Amino acid sequence: MLTENPRVVFAKRPGNSIPIPGEHVIFESSHSTIDLDGVPLNGGYLTKTLMLSPEPFMRERMRELSVPSYSTHAVLGAPLVGFGLVVVLRSEKEGIKPGDRLYGLTPWEAYTVQPYIEGRANYNPAEAPDYTFDVDALSLQIVPDPKGAFPWTRYFSVLGAPGLTAFCGFEGCADAKPGETIWVSSGASAVGMVVVQLAKAKGLKVIASAGADSKVEYMRSLGADVSFNYKTTPIAEVLKEHGPLDIYWDNVGGKSLEVAIEYSRLHARLIMCGAISEYALPYEQRHGIKNTNMIFKKRLRIEGFLVPDLAPRLAPRFYAEMPLLLAQGKITAKEYISEGLSSGPEALAAVLREGGNEAVGKPIIRVALD
Ligand SMILES: NC(=O)c1ccc[n+]([C@@H]2O[C@H](COP(=O)([O-])OP(=O)(O)OC[C@H]3O[C@@H](n4cnc5c(N)ncnc54)[C@H](OP(=O)(O)O)[C@@H]3O)[C@@H](O)[C@H]2O)c1
Repeated sequence: MLTENPRVVFAKRPGNSIPIPGEHVIFESSHSTIDLDGVPLNGGYLTKTLMLSPEPFMRERMRELSVPSYSTHAVLGAPLVGFGLVVVLRSEKEGIKPGDRLYGLTPWEAYTVQPYIEGRANYNPAEAPDYTFDVDALSLQIVPDPKGAFPWTRYFSVLGAPGLTAFCGFEGCADAKPGETIWVSSGASAVGMVVVQLAKAKGLKVIASAGADSKVEYMRSLGADVSFNYKTTPIAEVLKEHGPLDIYWDNVGGKSLEVAIEYSRLHARLIMCGAISEYALPYEQRHGIKNTNMIFKKRLRIEGFLVPDLAPRLAPRFYAEMPLLLAQGKITAKEYISEGLSSGPEALAAVLREGGNEAVGKPIIRVALD
């Protein structure tokens, strides 16, 4: 029997805009069907998508083909690919059985024969720039049933890619010492909320910013000593009063980085995790940083990182420590759920907007209950 297989398709490159629902990213309710009992598995396994995670890196993958970056390009006409939680329906693969749940990269569709190849049979890793990583490396992995110790949604926030990003960058680059001061921009984002808590646990004074008052409250509840809305309070005013900074965690880039350089202490570390304010801007509209001379004068260390660089060294510690801290209530998270695959295009657009939306928590799209 054929079952409809709704999906969210990458329809058009968004150029210098965020991907607009219905134009660049389209929900298709009845484009394709699948025979759940009979579809050939070819040694793989069939999964049902339970939840999906809209994340900024998905925008980067939509860039023009001529623009190099750290990731491969998304494929036009194919479903978007992002982190998801899936359950296995049938399997021919050793070690994977029906009922297993896996977290990792998966297409934005209801059912998938895995492993999924994103219409990229022609992709040649040898031709990619040497700072590109292949998203296929982040394939699905079985995740244990938390058995009530924490909700499954935590696999998208503190225990998922955002938590791993925060842990790798903080442990691998920050060189943080108790008593130091850190500013976390986009401190209520999925990555930011974990950085705020790791920094507090280490005994740092934490300044955190976000683009909505609801998020300001949330960052305060996570322990941020100074929590502010960058849209209503000038950043420089806050850093002048509560700085100087020993560490800046940059999720935003552009003007924020310039202000952080201005209010950095001698030998401060500036950790470049992301630059979300610039992903959709053409080169000439990006903010030109005017105080680069302060980098040598203050002997600043500015360091960019990507999770795949640091994960081989730090992921074993992350997977040993984080679930325990979570179960003990020593680290927490919040997720914000939107219902149905059809909500996917708007959920993705929302994470790419300044202020995101007023909703607090890591955005997740619930595709199916079980
Ligand atoms: N280096 C790595 O390996 C790695 C891995 C994962 C993620 N990242 C980066 O980490 C950062 C956070 O990712 P995430 O998954 O935690 O994000 P997220 O939970 O999806 O949150 C994104 C938030 O960014 C803020 N934002 C959006 N557009 C903005 C703009 N133009 N100016 C300022 N802020 C803007 C919005 O919050 P507010 O405006 O309300 O603050 C939005 O809610 C991103 O830059 C991402 O690219 C890096």
